[in-house]
Formats: sequence, structure tokens, C-alpha cells
Amino acid sequence: MASAPIPKAELHLHIEGTLEPELAFRLAGRNGVELRYASAEELRDAYSFCDLQSFLDLYYELMAVLRTEDDFADLARAYLERAAAQGVRHAEIFFDPQAHTSRGVPIGTVIGGLARALDDSEERYGVSTALIMCFLRDESAASALETLEAATPYLDRIIGVGLDSAEVGNPPEKFREVYDRAAALGLRRVAHAGEEGPPQYVTQALDLLGVERVDHGLRSLEDPELVARLVRDRIPLTVCPLSNVRLRAVDRLEDHPLPRMLAAGLLVTVNSDDPAYFGGYADDNFTAVRDALGLDDETLRDLAANSFRAAFLDDARRRSYL
Ligand code: ADE
Ligand code: ZN
Repeated sequence: MASAPIPKAELHLHIEGTLEPELAFRLAGRNGVELRYASAEELRDAYSFCDLQSFLDLYYELMAVLRTEDDFADLARAYLERAAAQGVRHAEIFFDPQAHTSRGVPIGTVIGGLARALDDSEERYGVSTALIMCFLRDESAASALETLEAATPYLDRIIGVGLDSAEVGNPPEKFREVYDRAAALGLRRVAHAGEEGPPQYVTQALDLLGVERVDHGLRSLEDPELVARLVRDRIPLTVCPLSNVRLRAVDRLEDHPLPRMLAAGLLVTVNSDDPAYFGGYADDNFTAVRDALGLDDETLRDLAANSFRAAFLDDARRRSYL
């Protein structure tokens, strides 16, 4: 019998990236939305990407099926059920409000639906949760600020802010004022940096946005001083191995820099990013790196422990997981 998946926290997971083709078709039917694919199989066949942008184009297109609170609740419940089966005990979940408000879906519908699923997640699935609201970096800083203001009635539901979407050409410095405002509101701060963008974007995220964790951070390895800083300051990097291969940040999983990152002393975690699109959820990523990179059990346990160390948990909770 296969052993139970190792208990872990998921710290880099876009809820919209958990939209499986079958659910996309069910929601499309429910909402009268026309998809340009004949079937879930045909849609899944389209999941072949040459870079981040080619993925983002399909990711945003499929969001058209998400319209009501029920849709967001169903999406989150489907993820939480899968996450529990993959050994996830705690999930800090990203969502992209601007991708919905720009289509006329109110932010209250998005947060209300997600909150409904998250509210009974511990009881139903044994998964504790938190929500991180991401700004789309290819939209303006003014739009991000507006989004933050629109979210103020729901701040009790949101633990922090993040930054995602097309990285190159949209440096962290663009969002300095937004992150200052988020900090003043008591929100935690993370940002995608160094996925496709240069190591300077990681440095900017630390210096100008005050992030406590870096999402991806792969290209930090190109700057030894930055690596030394990340190690010294124990800044976690939420690495997503299957995503990196599917979006061609890394050629093959066998070439993934995860072992180099661990050897450098970086606080690395393994996560799934957009699992419906990239071929695997949290434990699938653990299994894939174990097999491709020959990681031993102790290293896998360390990676899982890092996920709880890097989580936005209070100390008592953290201890209960470690
Ligand atoms: N949005 C969803 N997944 C993303 C990723 N891997 N990078 C940037 N933005 C994203
Ligand atoms: Zn991501």
C-alpha cells in the first residue's frame, strides 16, 4: 500500500489555477458561458505552454466561467478536498480579484464565495486556510490601489497581499505605494519575483515592497549576494517545480535548481502554483522532485517542515504542525 502523503503547508497556490477542465465545463453550463473547446479532453489537450504569458492567456480566458458566489465556493471546495488527500494541512491561497472585477464580478462575490468554502475547511477537510489577495502586475498601480480600497470591508478575511501575472517589464517598484498602504493596513506581504524576471526584481521586492516571502525566486541564484542575503534573513522562497517545467523556466525536472537552492542554505518550500494546468497538486510536486532529483526522505521531511516554518501561522499552531 502506498504510504500516506507527508503533512505539509501549501504556500503558493492560485485558486483560479485549480479550475479543472471538467469543473470549467460544469460552471460554463450552469452560467450559459460558451467555451471555444468541444470537451474537457479537448481543453486539457490545449495545456501546452511555451512561457508564462501563453499560460496566462488561457488562465484568464477560462475565468469567464466563474460568475457567482457558488462558483467560487465550489472551486475552493474542490481544491481543498484534493489538497487534503495530498497531505496539505494548511493552505495560504492566492486569488486575483482584478481578473474578476474587470469582468463585472464584484469583489464581494469573489471573497464571499471563497470564504464560504474556507470557513468550514478545517472541519470538513482538516485543512486550515488563509487568503492572500494578489494584484495583477501588468495592470496599473492605480488599479491595484483601487482594488485594495475595494477590499477594505473584507480585510478580516484576508491575511496578506501578493503580486502576480506577467513579470518581465512590471517590476516590483511599480507597486511601492500599494504595498506601503497594505502594510499600514496590517497585511502580510509576498510577491512573485525571479520566475521569469531578473534577480533585481527579487531585491526590489525585498527593499521596496518589504515582502516576507518570495514566490518562485528561482533567478535569485544568478546573484550570489542576493542568495547570501536570503539565507541570512531566512526569507522563504515558494518554489513550484512542475510549474517551472511547464512554463519553461527550467528545461527538465532533472535540471531543476532545487538541490542547489537547498545546498546554498535557502529556506525553500515546494508548492503547486496552478495545479489544474501544470499536472500536479502539492504531493505530486513532492513525488516528482523526489523521483527526478533523487531527494531522500530526510530532504522531503525538511521541505515539508520548511512549509510550516514559512507559513503565516502563530507560534502555537506552527508548533502543532512541526
Ligand atoms: N498567476 C497564476 N500563476 C502565475 C505564475 N506562475 N506566475 C505569475 N502569475 C501567475
Ligand atoms: Zn504563482
